[in-house]
Amino acid sequence: MADEINAETVEEVSFIGGIVQEIVSSPLNIALVAIITFLVYKIFISRQEPKPSPPREPELPKLRRDFTASELKAYDGKQPDGRILVAVNGYVYDVTRGKRFYGPGGPYAAFGGRDASRGLATFSVTTSEVEYDDLSDLTPPEMDSVREWEMQFKEKYDLVGRLLKPGEQPTNYSDEDDEPTGSSDKSGTEHEKSESDGKKDDSKPEE
Ligand code: HEM
Repeated sequence: MADEINAETVEEVSFIGGIVQEIVSSPLNIALVAIITFLVYKIFISRQEPKPSPPREPELPKLRRDFTASELKAYDGKQPDGRILVAVNGYVYDVTRGKRFYGPGGPYAAFGGRDASRGLATFSVTTSEVEYDDLSDLTPPEMDSVREWEMQFKEKYDLVGRLLKPGEQPTNYSDEDDEPTGSSDKSGTEHEKSESDGKKDDSKPEE
């Protein structure tokens, strides 16, 4: 039994010895082994080292105010702070995070600093030049599309405030504690009601 084990060990040692002999006999083999060892080491090290994450851009301070359409125009991402605002269905969202879409040179740059509602409803990436677009001529399916887009913006971006109609007074949000929830419905009676009694209520709880 002990003899058998001894014989196996001797065989193994001579096998490994043969390989070693083979490698050291040729400079090319030595070079190949060196390269393989280096590559294995590199792979091992790169797995261990945590990849440095790309530096995160500092977030802009949260904005909370209402805008007229002309005030909104300044927020197209071309200003030094790069902030981009987009209005959808009467509400203004901070879409700076989506600057690859809405920033200068982006596919939807025409919406940056503008009311995008009509463009979104009609599937056309065009800049709205009107002072205030009441969207009253949009068809019901187009208005549905606006509301769907509004839901997406609401989910993805921070609500900043409302898009003001000409002559409408901005809301003072300074003593607001809660996170804005931003809900709107231009065709709804609630919207009309809040206009008629002069209250601007965009902080009704989420459904
Ligand atoms: C050939 C036509 C189009 C193609 C292939 C296309 C493609 C895309 C893709 C792939 C995304 C998702 C990007 C991502 O999340 O990484 C996107 C988002 C979007 N698209 Fe388009 N699109 C087209 C036309 C339009 C048109 C006509 C409009 C305007 C009405 C539009 C408005 C948008 C908006 C607003 C977003 C969301 C960006 C965000 O997340 O803030 N797209 N599009």
